[in-house]
Amino acid sequence: MNVQENISLKSFNTFGIDVSAKYFARFTTVDELHELLEFNQTSNPKLQTSNFKPQTLILGGGSNILFTKDFDGLVLKNELLGIKEIKEDEHHVYVQAGAGVNWHHFVLHCIHNGWAGVENLSLIPGNVGASPMQNIGAYGVEIKDVFYSLEAFHIPDKKTIHFSVNDCEFGYRESVFKRKYKNEFVITNVTYRLNRIPSFNTSYGAIEQELEKMGVGKSIQAISQAVINIRSSKLPDPAVTGNAGSFFKNPEIGSHQFHELTRMFPSIVGYNLPNGNVKLAAGWLIEQCGWKGYRKDDAGCHEKQALVLVNYGNAKGNEIYNLSEEILQSVKKKFGVGLEREVNIV
Ligand code: FAD
Ligand code: EPU
Repeated sequence: MNVQENISLKSFNTFGIDVSAKYFARFTTVDELHELLEFNQTSNPKLQTSNFKPQTLILGGGSNILFTKDFDGLVLKNELLGIKEIKEDEHHVYVQAGAGVNWHHFVLHCIHNGWAGVENLSLIPGNVGASPMQNIGAYGVEIKDVFYSLEAFHIPDKKTIHFSVNDCEFGYRESVFKRKYKNEFVITNVTYRLNRIPSFNTSYGAIEQELEKMGVGKSIQAISQAVINIRSSKLPDPAVTGNAGSFFKNPEIGSHQFHELTRMFPSIVGYNLPNGNVKLAAGWLIEQCGWKGYRKDDAGCHEKQALVLVNYGNAKGNEIYNLSEEILQSVKKKFGVGLEREVNIV
């Protein structure tokens, strides 16, 4: 067990925020995780005074986190690896991946083996373990569409619990792990149910256009490449410019409010939802408030995608957070619509 003290987290979060962790360790097995949690119980005095406090932070690829201060506890970097086929039936292959497996590596592994279902989710940064956290989604597909089950270690009770799809209560960028059981579980592996015969999802307009541009027919490889091309054309590469993808969720409003807004702003972008509500494009709302391309010191709003906040170098977490607050308030003032942060604020 190698626990480091006062470690900079700059290279462990894609925003590139330079905060430090009081303790930092990596785990490659569930036994190591268990040992490290024991360590935290005995050496962190704050924890000895109560049954359970969220003084442990589980870190994957750090691509959906904004650190606003030093972390006064134990950061545990999940490095549980391995991908294995656990069963199959006529239509599906059930594939289990360790929570520390890089997500895009997993997608490529599936494509290589001809397993369909995750190709639209190509190039999303981060690891397998975080994929159910916010039910990652892109280009018309969410993880819940291919999710089968997961195993998670319950920190207070120190035991492994099995979760089915219903147990996870997936919603748009939501699950029980993000809210109800926040900081209680460490997801250790996830099993996905992939399709032997692909059913292509190209409903997201840009994919069809990109496939046409590429001059290729539909296949899981082609769709993956189309998604990679589209994403690379508008999302900043965290290796170059710090960011955590969409900073806010796309807000859902009632149809009556949408009609009112359409009268005042005829070009407003909204999509009808099955429940009769409308999902607005937050990027459009933010752009209309004049933020797109805005920069104050090293904190900014991306010039090609207004939903993405960026760190141009040495921004502090609080500067990014304060910018998000200003954006949130201006959208509320202009459109009467409240935005909710998607990124986890720590
Ligand atoms: P982290 O940032 O390390 O962690 C995120 C949260 O999950 C934290 O609260 C952490 O404590 C918790 N957590 C992580 N692993 C575990 C675990 N094993 N057990 C328990 N808790 C855990 N997201 C989308 O949904 N769609 C997109 O299209 C998308 N595009 C993006 C594009 C860019 C350029 C970037 C930078 C991000 C994008 N994201 C997108 C957000 C992000 O990639 C996903 O949310 C991803 O799943 C985060 O994975 P991670 O391993 O980096 O999680
Ligand atoms: N738009 C603007 N200005 C902008 C950005 C967007 O007007 O600066 C409008 C455009 O009309 C565009 C529409 O918003 O057509 C939608 O934009 P885009 O297709 O880029 O998708 P998004 O709604 O901004 C969502 C997800 C992304 C995901 C893409 C593709 C959320 C919060 N974001 O973005 O997820 O990759 O769709 O499916 O749902 C993430 O979660 O981190 C993320 C990047």
